[in-house]
Amino acid sequence: MNRRRFLHTLALSGIAATASRVPAIAAAGKPFRTPSKLLAGAGTPLRFPADWDGGPIVAAATKQNVWPDTQTDVWTYGGSWPGPTIRVKRGDTFKARMVNMLDEPTIIHWHGMIVPHEMDGHPSQAVGTKESYNYSFPILNRAGMYWYHPHPHHRTAIQAYRGMAGLFIVEDDAEKDLGLPDGGHDIPLVLQDRRIRDSRSEFRYEIVTDDDHIQGFLGDAVFVNGTPDPYLEVAKGLYRFRLLNGANARIFYLSFTDDRPFHIIASDGGLLDKPYKVSLLSISPGERFEILVDFSGDDIGTSVMLRSEETGGGAGYPPPQGAAFPVIRFDVVKEATKTFTIPQTLVPYEQYRAEDAVRERDFILSIKHEGSVGNLDVGHFINGLEFEMDRVDGTIPINELEIWNFRNTSLAPHPMHAHGVQFQVLDRAGNTNLAARDRGWKDTILVLPYQTVRVLVRFNPYPGIYLVHCHNLEHESHGMMLNFEVTGEPTGVESAAAQIEKLDLK
Ligand code: C2O
Ligand code: CU
Ligand code: CU
Repeated sequence: MNRRRFLHTLALSGIAATASRVPAIAAAGKPFRTPSKLLAGAGTPLRFPADWDGGPIVAAATKQNVWPDTQTDVWTYGGSWPGPTIRVKRGDTFKARMVNMLDEPTIIHWHGMIVPHEMDGHPSQAVGTKESYNYSFPILNRAGMYWYHPHPHHRTAIQAYRGMAGLFIVEDDAEKDLGLPDGGHDIPLVLQDRRIRDSRSEFRYEIVTDDDHIQGFLGDAVFVNGTPDPYLEVAKGLYRFRLLNGANARIFYLSFTDDRPFHIIASDGGLLDKPYKVSLLSISPGERFEILVDFSGDDIGTSVMLRSEETGGGAGYPPPQGAAFPVIRFDVVKEATKTFTIPQTLVPYEQYRAEDAVRERDFILSIKHEGSVGNLDVGHFINGLEFEMDRVDGTIPINELEIWNFRNTSLAPHPMHAHGVQFQVLDRAGNTNLAARDRGWKDTILVLPYQTVRVLVRFNPYPGIYLVHCHNLEHESHGMMLNFEVTGEPTGVESAAAQIEKLDLK
């Protein structure tokens, strides 16, 4: 794709990408007809990563039958892509040992989890081949779906791309009381794309073109839980789908082929105050959403596809940001044996107020590209800076509420992420009437081209160095990341229970 068209495409997809449905999207291409007959045999049954067994989490190169007839070289945690699903309860102490059997340094970061600096997987903590790192921290977060992935200096993008990522699911009593769909009706969906046209024997990762730099490394095929062309057999009932965008760069604009409504019940930091009904949901790299989808009105023998909608992406190879994709097909095959209902309300939480903020901070997001097409020198900056391991780019007093202004002055979308904290959106493009996707506790927020998103942030209880970065992993690994030092006395680190009290996350 040439650069002019690329600019055009991103501007379009950016403007069209607001979370509530806008006519531009509704009118855009609908490439998939709702299949009226079961497509028996077409596709691959959705796979699920095994639950973590409590043993060492080994990072290593291995092979996986991504396609039944092909062994693909992958790098994994615990031998599978995605890695084992870790399940913990709020208030527990989590302990794990990571062993690095890769030929290069690595470290695990627990994305979204509020942990001490030493446990956070800062790139300075990366360990070499055959070394290990011991993790131990109390679970302070609310029930929700978090995740883990590598964070070594300059190598996060390639390690994640090659297959290193897993789910980290927190449960608590407030969630349990809601009676949400569970068991076989509680389904994690890890959305990722990979570029497979040139090779299925490995996930080749080579940043070659200008677009690979500017847009990030986009794939030509979508995988759900590491499954190509996935489908899932469902019963005529209500399902809880837990969505993670684990792609390096691709944003998904999710809807069903029959445009059925569904309910968003949780975001990055767990359950919302109540379910929000939508029929389109954008999810950018690093973000999570949980949705309730109802198949009770579907006839047995029919299918519906979850897809990523066309948002003006156009054509090109790999399909650009905003191109249409099928994501996963649901085949309705039986009556439900257990019925679930959509709760009226979920879990209330403290809503931050802008007037309580004590200071404001700007994060100017920019991309600089110089030179000619095909020969660009591209840099990604926050406040004009590229990441330096030992430079601290600001201090944040512990427990003080701040307003952060993410100002995107570039033509690319940036999903901005902060470590060590869950924040709340104050406004998007000046609009405080938030779309459902911007509500609740967030640790990653999509900032569209030339848009400003303001968030309310308060670090507690841990002081120390934490990262703020773009979760487009090509942007991150090329330096779109800063160090911040949270200063002040640690509050309430005596016990997990005391910390939960003081955190006031409920
Ligand atoms: Cu998933 Cu530093 O992030
Ligand atoms: Cu993170
Ligand atoms: Cu970015």
